[in-house]
Amino acid sequence: KITPVLLCGGSGTRLWPLSRKSYPKQFVPLLGDETLFQASARRLSGADGALSFARPVALTNADFRFIVTEQLNLAGIDPGAVLIEPEGRNTAPAILAAALHAAATDPEAILLVAPSDHVIPDDAAFRAAVARGLPAVAAGDLVTFGIRPTHPETAYGYLELSAPPGDGGAPVKLSRFVEKPGAARAAEMLAEGHFLWNAGIFLFRARDMIAACEAHAPDLIAPVRASLEAAETDLGFLRLDPAAWAECADISIDYAVMERASNLSVVPFDGAWSDLGGWDAVWRESGPDTDGVVASGGATALDCRDTLLRSEDAGLEVVGIGLDNVIAVATRDAVLVADMSRAQEVKRAVAALKGKG
Ligand code: GDD
Ligand code: MG
Repeated sequence: KITPVLLCGGSGTRLWPLSRKSYPKQFVPLLGDETLFQASARRLSGADGALSFARPVALTNADFRFIVTEQLNLAGIDPGAVLIEPEGRNTAPAILAAALHAAATDPEAILLVAPSDHVIPDDAAFRAAVARGLPAVAAGDLVTFGIRPTHPETAYGYLELSAPPGDGGAPVKLSRFVEKPGAARAAEMLAEGHFLWNAGIFLFRARDMIAACEAHAPDLIAPVRASLEAAETDLGFLRLDPAAWAECADISIDYAVMERASNLSVVPFDGAWSDLGGWDAVWRESGPDTDGVVASGGATALDCRDTLLRSEDAGLEVVGIGLDNVIAVATRDAVLVADMSRAQEVKRAVAALKGKG
């Protein structure tokens, strides 16, 4: 059985005003009725064929704990554990905490760490990719999932394959992991052709991740272990000890472990994948009509092209006339209007608003 580890501590500022500090994008029904978090949990539940999932472990912060349990409940999924991080320390401490927590009962436990804010429409194809990774896990590798790159994205990790991928999508050894390269390096890797994007999903045995942290991020071991040992159980949540947690470096698993480890494999994944990293991605994933228009909620588009119009409140009418390449998102207390090509700059707006206090 594979234990899913659902990371849901991020804040997703590029999808403001829908994604809020108190209610970030993974908990919002961005596409359809289900939230991204619920879709991730459901994708990694149940059993089919050779693959079977144990109850998931969720890692989040105190503010989101009841959202997590409520949304799992509504999705009919019973969490195995909900670990609460006293503060965000990025993904390396969170993943190590999950590995140590699992290893306490079974060091051989196989964990599948998944972000909760991605879109993977074809669940079956993704589960098949997970199943293909299992032999590499049994051989002691940390397994990544690789997406064919389409542009020189600088917000992703790049996976250098040691050999061309075979037909069946079997795991390939990685020769290098490059996290968030600069623009020039990203363009080079795209041109070189033997790199895939890191999907941000990791499959491994608990003890192998612990060993990798011991080798490459040894300073994390003691504080994460201590925060688990001194953790408090509170209404079914496992609250990591704040004093020990405060000693953890703030670092992602990509920098702390993946860039340094050599026991890495990648399973190429050909299915659709998006990390919904901005409103342009939401527009693309929402299935624009033949004019490129998405109008949802109480929104109406008249003579528009390549435009996303969204109203989050049935009583809030939004009308666009003659727009081209525009994003407009209205919620009860905030409205965003932006050029589609500048969707990534929404996080600047959030920073500017914070500055106003
Ligand atoms: N519990 C918890 N605690 N979750 C966290 C924390 C934390 O402190 N920080 C981030 N997360 C969650 C986010 O909510 C997200 O679901 C996931 O962990 C990844 O974090 P991001 O901050 O979104 O990472 P990224 O997008 O910059 O980069 C990662 O994902 C890319 C693909 O989307 C890397 O793995 C890249 O290599 C990868 O290409
Ligand atoms: Mg991300």
